[in-house]
Order: sequence, then C-alpha cells, then structure tokens
Amino acid sequence: MHEFEYTVQSGELVRVCSGSDIFESKLREICFHKDQLWAVDHNVYELHGALLDRVATELKASVHVVPSGEISKSRLEKERMEDAAFAAGLARDGLIVAIGGGVVGDLAGYVAATYMRGIDFVQVPTTVVAMVDSSIGGKTGIDVPQGKNLVGAFKHPIAIVADIDFLATLPDAEFRDGFAEVIKHAAIRDEGLFRQLEQHRLEDYRESGLLTELVVHNQKIKIGVVTADTREAGLRKILNFGHTLGHSIEALAKFQRSHGVCVAEGMVLEAMLGADLGVGDSEIVERLQALLTQFGFEEHHLRSSFSAMDLVRGTKTDKKVASGEVHYVLLESVGTCANLNQGCSQPVSDDAVLATLGSRSA
Ligand SMILES: NC(=O)c1ccc[n+]([C@@H]2O[C@H](COP(=O)([O-])OP(=O)(O)OC[C@H]3O[C@@H](n4cnc5c(N)ncnc54)[C@H](O)[C@@H]3O)[C@@H](O)[C@H]2O)c1
Ligand SMILES: [Zn+2]
Repeated sequence: MHEFEYTVQSGELVRVCSGSDIFESKLREICFHKDQLWAVDHNVYELHGALLDRVATELKASVHVVPSGEISKSRLEKERMEDAAFAAGLARDGLIVAIGGGVVGDLAGYVAATYMRGIDFVQVPTTVVAMVDSSIGGKTGIDVPQGKNLVGAFKHPIAIVADIDFLATLPDAEFRDGFAEVIKHAAIRDEGLFRQLEQHRLEDYRESGLLTELVVHNQKIKIGVVTADTREAGLRKILNFGHTLGHSIEALAKFQRSHGVCVAEGMVLEAMLGADLGVGDSEIVERLQALLTQFGFEEHHLRSSFSAMDLVRGTKTDKKVASGEVHYVLLESVGTCANLNQGCSQPVSDDAVLATLGSRSA
C-alpha cells in the first residue's frame, strides 16, 4: 500500500492511498462517524455491489447509484444527487464519496462544491483514467448543451482511495484508454517512465503489483504538474498535449471514438507538428507512434480520417485559442515539453498545422 499527502494552493491537504484490497480499511479510517452519501457508478455497483453494500451498511452510508456514461454529467443528475443528499440528511459536516470513473468523480465533486456551499468529498476512482488523471487536480463539473465541462468548480477531495482491485473488472477498451493519459504523462514529463512502458505490453499491467506502481507514479506526475508553484503558472497547460487536435477529432467523430483513441491520435499529430517546426524531431514521433501501437492504439486509428481543414477548424472552438492562433504544447524531446519558461505552449499558424496534417501519410 502506498500512502502520501499533497497540499493544494488553498493549503488544504489531500491524502492519497493506493494499492490492492484497501477500499474497506481506508473507507473505515476516512469516513467513519460521518453522515455520508456514496455516489456509485451503475456498472461498478453491479460488479462490486456485495463489497459496497457491506461497507456502506457498516458506515451507515446512503448509496445513490448514478447511471453509467458521459450522459450523467448533466444538470439532471446533479439535481438527483443533491436530492439524494438532502434525503440522506447530509448537513454541512457531511461527506460525499464518489465511487466510479471520471464521470461520477466530476459530477459528485461538483455537487460537493456547491451543496450547502461546499462539503467534503472523497474520490474512489475505479478506472485507470480516474486513478491517474481525473481524481487529481480539483477540476469538477458537468456538460451542458453548449459543450463539455462548461459548468463546474475547482474542488479537491480530502482523500483519494485508489483500490487497484476495482480495475480487474474494467473492460479491455477502457483499460487501454487510460494508457493514452499514462503515455501522455510519460511523453511530457518523464522519459524514464516512457522507457519503462516501451519494455512492456498492456497485458503486463493487469498484474496488480506493476499496476499499483504505475498508478502511483502517474498520480505523482499529475500532482507535480498541478501543484507547481506560481512561477510556473502555465505548467498545467502541458497536460493538454495531444488534446488540441484530439478534441477536434473527438468532435468530428461525434464522440463515437473514445477519448483515449482521439488523444492517442492527437499526440502523434502534435508530435509531428513539433518535428516539422524544428522544436522536436522525427525520432519522438516514431517512438510515440510505436508505443501507442504497442499499447493497442492500432496504427490505422492513428491516422485521422478527417480532412486537414476540418481538423484545423475543429481546434478553433477549443478554449485554448488565444488571439486567433491556436496554442500547441510541443515536445522538445521524449519526456520534455518546449517553452517551459514561456507559458508552456506556443501559437502555431493554421498554415503550419495544415502543412503537417496534409503531409501525414493517410
Ligand atoms: N476532472 C478532470 O481533471 C478530468 C480529467 C480527465 C477526464 N475527465 C472526465 O472523466 C470522464 C472520463 O472518465 P472515465 O474514462 O473514467 O469514464 P467513465 O466514468 O464513463 O467510466 C468508463 C466506463 O467504465 C465503467 N466502469 C468504471 N469503473 C469500472 C470498473 N471498475 N469495472 C467495470 N466497469 C467500470 C463505467 O461504468 C463506464 O461505462 C470524462 O467525463 C472526462 O471529461 C476529467
Ligand atoms: Zn484526456
């Protein structure tokens, strides 16, 4: 079991516990004697209901099941969760426990941020994405007709309990998708991790010891980025690597391709852009593409079926657009981003992006 704490800008502490078979003991420690509402992803409840019911009964927690899928990051589900919290009698000193992937974590965190003007919450991430990415950093929120994640709040959990055993039931495609963010972390911040990944295959990480180490390593990378001191105010932007074109692909595919697949493709294209601009080189692109293929992001998925013009147009609605030119995070080498002291991203002209996208082998 790994346990450590980190401090967020407001000075609050977040306790992070990760390992196998820790759910019961850690929830007992963290949540004992509190009025609490557990917001549980429907699929997780179906698969792990016996364990959840047993511990919920012991801790006198009310269980509120949230339908699975992005559709639940909605105003409607926010209301339903608030009503469940009122029905459970949660007061200012109550607790919301989010048990699920990024969807339940983002939704429950947002409810916790505003219910009674803010109550404590705990994240129990049950997907790779949630363990290495969405449970860390304090971004919470819901989707509205105007776009994804457009209504929300910054709200850090008091604790994150990442019990690796939940991942045993995660479908292969979801498991793989989390590795797009893992590979992103390695590419932007940690050449050593990138090398480690190059020596493994996705299946190797189904083993809980290796998986725990990987989760903890990635938690620390993301925590390091989001808690960086104010002199590095732009550092958080590096987490957008692969996401500028990735989001464009996701929207063009009408969200029928998974986020991980779109980000994998976005990373390759953005690495190509960096190489064409002379910031990085073609070796970065080759290593990235090879690693993604090795982890199940098939090569044909890494070549966008959308026109260069549509892809560029798609980046314009992205919130990273500043003064007309879209900013990109570019890799200087594997494990290091360019412009770390100058805002961490740079504006790139549409012509340059079109040239790179136009020259990629289709
Ligand atoms: N807040 C942030 O900083 C941040 C960062 C990244 C992503 N996100 C958000 O996270 C969401 C994506 O997260 P996600 O990939 O975890 O998606 P998700 O929460 O939809 O979970 C993916 C699928 O896996 C199922 N599932 C979850 N745990 C399971 C388990 N242990 N066994 C079997 N099935 C299980 C879910 O029911 C769902 O069908 C998006 O809404 C995204 O916007 C937020
Ligand atoms: Zn992402």
